[in-house]
Amino acid sequence: MSEIKNIGIFTSGGDAPGMNACIRAAVRTAHQCKIEVTGIYEGYDGLINAKFNKLSPIDVSGIIHTGGTILKSSRSEAFMTPEGRKKAYENMKAQGIDALIAIGGDGTFKGAEVFNQEFDVPIVGCPGTIDNNLFGTDYTIGFDTACNTAVEAIDKIRDTATSHNRMFLVEVMGKDAGYIALHACVAGGGEAVLLPEQLDDLPRLMRFLKEKSRGKIFANIIVVAEGDETGGATEVEKLINMGYPEYETKVTVLGHLQRGGSPTCKDRLLSGKLGMFAVDALLQGKFNVMVGEVHQKVKFTPFHEAGNKEKPLDPDLVRMSETLVI
Ligand code: F6P
Repeated sequence: MSEIKNIGIFTSGGDAPGMNACIRAAVRTAHQCKIEVTGIYEGYDGLINAKFNKLSPIDVSGIIHTGGTILKSSRSEAFMTPEGRKKAYENMKAQGIDALIAIGGDGTFKGAEVFNQEFDVPIVGCPGTIDNNLFGTDYTIGFDTACNTAVEAIDKIRDTATSHNRMFLVEVMGKDAGYIALHACVAGGGEAVLLPEQLDDLPRLMRFLKEKSRGKIFANIIVVAEGDETGGATEVEKLINMGYPEYETKVTVLGHLQRGGSPTCKDRLLSGKLGMFAVDALLQGKFNVMVGEVHQKVKFTPFHEAGNKEKPLDPDLVRMSETLVI
């Protein structure tokens, strides 16, 4: 029999579409198992500032389709200090919370690992970040929605790019990972993509532009991951303008647009599944792991592996990005 009677749940780091569906699933699964759930507001800051509220199944109705997070989020600096974590632990105990579900990315899991080492708190993580940069899950919560948002934007940008014979550098999110850039570029039919995982992509792009620069503009859309080593779309534009002034260029930074919006069907299903299995994991005594999905099977990965192990880009998609250009 599990000792856990009250699970605290929070969202932390950058919000991601599907976080609400995950919260909903965890609350309803816990309810079925007669476990209470306490919502912790504003991520780790909510633990430190004792921002708690009990969540019943009815409290999470009508949120499956909403973006953002009903629990709000933060990137807590206070939790990075030993004093902050001590306060968080005291508040958690005073509230009767026995275990935690943390929905977030690599930073969230780093915090969770330290918290567990210091206070032996059982924690299970759900991968909530649009970046898809976590090992131990094929996809993270919010990634599919962010890609769809980026593809929709690229489609619209292409209309005006083609009409004016302009080249657009479209910058997408991904502070250290090129997943959104690669998937959105291939799906949006972009002519080239610059990824933090590849160091030879800029010279390749320059060679491509040289070949295509005679007469007609051939490259309408170049997708740049914000974390690319060139420094982003504006820097790439400067380099192109210096080498090939014949191209008329424009930069569009999609930015936080990609973090909002109603989660796609795929994101809702993934979020729900992981929220449900996060509760199961806690009740089965599986702690300090991230719940992920690999080849449609639920997998549990230790926090340090989820945040640190390399998750390579799909080589077939990389090949498509290089092959399917004109
Ligand atoms: O981690 C997700 C993410 O959206 C990154 O892609 C981006 O670099 C970062 O968050 C932006 O964070 P913030 O909203 O705190 O500026």
